[in-house]
Amino acid sequence: MSAATTDQSTAEVTINGTVREFDGPPHTNALDFLRGQGLTGAKEGCAEGECGACAIMVARPDESGGTRWTSVNSCLLPAAALDGGEVVTSEGLADGDSVHPVQEEMAVRGGSQCGYCTPGFISSMAAEYYRPDRCEDGFDLHSLSGNLCRCTGYRPIRDAANALGQPAADDPLAARRDRPAPSARATDYQRADTATGTIGRYRRPSTLAEAASILSADPEVTVVAGATDWGVEVNIKGARGKNILAVDRLEEMRGIRRTADFIELGASQTLSELERELSGSIPLLGKLFPQFASRLIRNGATIGGNLGTGSPIGDTPPALLALEAELVLTSVRGSRSVALADYFTGYRQTVREADELITAIRIPLPLSPLTSFQKIAKRRFDDISSVAIGYAVDIQGGMIAKARIGLGGVAATPLRATATEALLEGRPWTLETVHAAAETLAAEGTPMDDHRASAKYRTAMLRSSLERFYAEQLGHPAVTSKEVQ
Ligand SMILES: Cc1cc2nc3c(=O)[nH]c(=O)nc-3n(C[C@H](O)[C@H](O)[C@H](O)COP(=O)(O)OP(=O)(O)OC[C@H]3O[C@@H](n4cnc5c(N)ncnc54)[C@H](O)[C@@H]3O)c2cc1C
Ligand code: FES
Ligand code: FES
Repeated sequence: MSAATTDQSTAEVTINGTVREFDGPPHTNALDFLRGQGLTGAKEGCAEGECGACAIMVARPDESGGTRWTSVNSCLLPAAALDGGEVVTSEGLADGDSVHPVQEEMAVRGGSQCGYCTPGFISSMAAEYYRPDRCEDGFDLHSLSGNLCRCTGYRPIRDAANALGQPAADDPLAARRDRPAPSARATDYQRADTATGTIGRYRRPSTLAEAASILSADPEVTVVAGATDWGVEVNIKGARGKNILAVDRLEEMRGIRRTADFIELGASQTLSELERELSGSIPLLGKLFPQFASRLIRNGATIGGNLGTGSPIGDTPPALLALEAELVLTSVRGSRSVALADYFTGYRQTVREADELITAIRIPLPLSPLTSFQKIAKRRFDDISSVAIGYAVDIQGGMIAKARIGLGGVAATPLRATATEALLEGRPWTLETVHAAAETLAAEGTPMDDHRASAKYRTAMLRSSLERFYAEQLGHPAVTSKEVQ
């Protein structure tokens, strides 16, 4: 993080190679700012992260010290968060009269009809085009999972993606990857909202100590990380947050630390960063990541933000409960560690004090070898869970030595299925045991009816879940044929 914070009434953003100034109210999102600059390629479709019409690319630090072009939903991102940053919109991809290879393929393969969604698709596709390991893996179509098209149909879009070659040797955005991304600038941006006359403030301090003292001085400050939840509050519910504290780029809350006893995940790591950097080394999380929202959302959403919402239907708590995770909470008074199982106290209520930040998530070692993440939602991808279940089980000599089960969507808080865990432990890992435990699991929690699912459906999903887990594990190396009867 560079430079000490000074009061400022403009934020500077490099857009398509040119520095531009933002001077709107702090709740302004990046989409409105860009469109106000005449860059009207990115569109507003939903204003809540669902359609991808607003997608742009931002320059984010890569693990190797270079830059990763990262697609994000500009409708959710505060424009002030781009202070000192670098952005490329669909307009910035073309070179004079020469269209970009992504634009060329979309045009010649009929990937666009009305064109409303097209700049967003182009931005997501370009970010994937510049992904450094794409040459080995091929084009990942899930990179487009946050982009919706109402009229073209996805086949021509998929054809365009699959037809892409590698960037040319003189491609400037490919070359840009080899230089560091802009480091997060310390920002204290203040502006009056002319509509309401109120002064809004967006602060991104340089250090965790500064962030903690801002929060200690005024616990009413709104903490924002990736803003994928907060952006929806602003756009759809009219939230303003006069005093924003941005924690997404604080170095002390980033990175992954490994010790002999635990793996510690920085709370401000995005889901995409964790997915990439853990690379399957925590298999249960490896199963969760692809089921969490879309690539566009995962590029912004942080793991700390998912726990910060206190939501009973967030996807990380069921998995983290099964992993017996602990949260590190930090304030001016210091840091303390709280078991996630003791963290939630009621609907969107937690033991976190108003002046505390979630700074890290610790996952104890060793990890249980049999894991599963089951997400039951109306759509397979890019949807909020109706029910989510995380399993981490250790089988020794055919017997269940340890079972940890985390549940989401079946009570006012995420919870551990402790009665089922107790019933399973010490029993043989057989279909008979699984059937014996099914009713106990079905009775865990107090599910309710809502627009996502009925209580009866949620209970039925719990009842069938263990059998699904058992079936998934047949053939797992940790379960020998002797152990499965
Ligand atoms: C289209 C869409 C799809 C989604 N799909 C899913 C999904 O599949 N699964 C799922 O679980 N969620 C989903 N979400 C919700 C959201 O993306 C996640 O909850 C995300 O992890 C929030 O992280 P963030 O960094 O964006 O949080 P923010 O929006 O920045 O903050 C969310 C809340 O957490 C608080 N907070 C943030 N960081 C901290 C911290 N370090 N310490 C204390 N408090 C903090 C903030 O004050 C705020 O109250 C979806 C959202 C959208 C818009
Ligand atoms: S406008 Fe739909 S995701 Fe941003
Ligand atoms: S081309 Fe019309 S919405 Fe996609």
